[in-house]
Amino acid sequence: MMDEKKSQHGEWSSRFAFILAATGSAVGLGNIWKFPYITGENGGGAFVLVYLLCVLLIGIPLMMAETLLGRRSKENPIHTMEILTKEAGADKNWHYLGWLGVAAGFLILSYYSVIAGWASAYVVKAFFGSFSGANPSEIKAIFDNFVASPMQLIFWHSLFMLATMLIVVRGIEKGFEKSVRFLLPWLFALMILMVGYAMTTDGYFKGLNFLFRPDFSKLTADSILVAMGQAFFSLSLGMGSIMVYGAYLPKDVSITKASMIIAGADTIIALLAGIIIFPIVFSNGLHPNSGPGLVFETLPIAFGNMFGGWLVGILFFVALVFAALSSSIALIEPAVAWLIENKGFTREKACLWSGLVAWALGFATIFSFNIWANVKLFERNLFELIDYLTANLMLPIGGFCIAIFAGWIMHQEHSKQELDCPDNLSYKIWQFLVRYIAPAAVFLVFLNVVGVL
Ligand code: PHE
Repeated sequence: MMDEKKSQHGEWSSRFAFILAATGSAVGLGNIWKFPYITGENGGGAFVLVYLLCVLLIGIPLMMAETLLGRRSKENPIHTMEILTKEAGADKNWHYLGWLGVAAGFLILSYYSVIAGWASAYVVKAFFGSFSGANPSEIKAIFDNFVASPMQLIFWHSLFMLATMLIVVRGIEKGFEKSVRFLLPWLFALMILMVGYAMTTDGYFKGLNFLFRPDFSKLTADSILVAMGQAFFSLSLGMGSIMVYGAYLPKDVSITKASMIIAGADTIIALLAGIIIFPIVFSNGLHPNSGPGLVFETLPIAFGNMFGGWLVGILFFVALVFAALSSSIALIEPAVAWLIENKGFTREKACLWSGLVAWALGFATIFSFNIWANVKLFERNLFELIDYLTANLMLPIGGFCIAIFAGWIMHQEHSKQELDCPDNLSYKIWQFLVRYIAPAAVFLVFLNVVGVL
C-alpha cells in the first residue's frame, strides 16, 4: 500500500527538482552568515575540521535517514513518526520527535527571518551606494546603527516573513521549485567572483590559514558542540525539514546519491563564504570573532572597493535573500503540512497561522540587538539562547532519535527498500553509521559539554 501512495501536496517533478529544493533548504544564511562568524568565534581551522567530520560521518547518513523516513510515509513529520512506529510495531511516543522538529522549526524561523531581513535591507543599502568608498569603521557604523533600530528590523523581518508565507501558500511545485531553480547558480557564480576579489587582498593567505590550518588548542568542548550543531543546522537536519521534502520524493530516485550531492553543495558554499570573508577580515585589521555582524561588516568593504562592486553587492544580497527564502520555506513546511493533513486547515490558513507565530517570536531576536541587549539568561541574550537551544540541542537530539529510529527501530527490509543502495556494502556502511557512529558522536559531544568526559 505504501508503494502507491503519494503525498497529498504533490511530488517533485524529477530527481533534479528534489535535489534543487533540498539544496535550497540547506544553502542559506547558515552557510554565508553563520558558518563564517561561528568559525571566527571558535578559532578557525580546528573548528572547521570538526565541522567537516560531522558533515561526513553524521550529516550525510542522517540526511539519508530523514529522507527515507519521509518518503516511506509520505506525510508530515509528526504523522510520519506515527505511521512508521505503527509499521515497526514500536512505542507510540516516537511521534514526539515530530513535535520536537516542528517546535525547532518555529524557533529557528523566528530569528532566521530577522537576519534575512538584514540581508534584505542591505540590498537597498547596496543599491543606494552606501558602501562605495566607505572605510571599515564606517561600514561597521552602518551595521551598528541599523541593528540599533528596532523599527527598521521589525519592518524588514515582517517583509521577509510575508514573502515566506506567500511562497508557501503557492504549494509545492509552483512555489518551491521555481524560486530555487534560478537562484542557486547565481549565488554560486557571484561567490566565485568574490573569491577572485579576496585573492587580490593582502590578507588572502592569512585568511586561508585561519580557515584551514587547525590549531587544536583552540578547540573547547563547547566549540565541538557548536561545530556539530552547525552541521545539523546547515544541512537542515534533525527537525523534519528534509523529512517533509523526502515525502514529496518519487520512488525511483536514489536517496544516497541525492544526499551526497546536497551535502557536497552545502559544504562548498560554506567554505567559499569563509574563503571570501576571512581575507577581508585580515586585510582590514578586523577581528574574526566579531559575532553575528561579521558578514555585514566585511563583505560591504569588498563591494565598496572591488571593480563593479556596486552591482556585485546588489546581486549578492539579492541572491542571499533568495537563498534564505528557500530555507525559510523549509523551516515552516513541517508545521504547515501538519496543520493541513491532521488539523484540516486550508493551506492559506495554515500558512497564515504558522507565519504569524514565527513572526511574533522574532521580536525576541530583534530586541536582543537593541533594547534587550542586556537581558541575559545563562550569560546569553535571547537570540543567542534561541540559537543555542535549537542548533546545539534540539537539532542534535532530533538527529539522535532519527538515527536510532532508522537504524534500530525500523525494519531492515524497509530501510533497505527505500534506500535502494547499489550494493549491500553501501547499505551496511550506512547502517553502521546511523546505528553506531552518529548516535554515539552526538552522545559523546553532549557528555563532553556537561563535563562528564
Ligand atoms: N540549512 C539552512 C541554512 O543553512 C537553515 C535551516 C535549518 C533550514 C533547518 C531548514 C531547516 O541556512
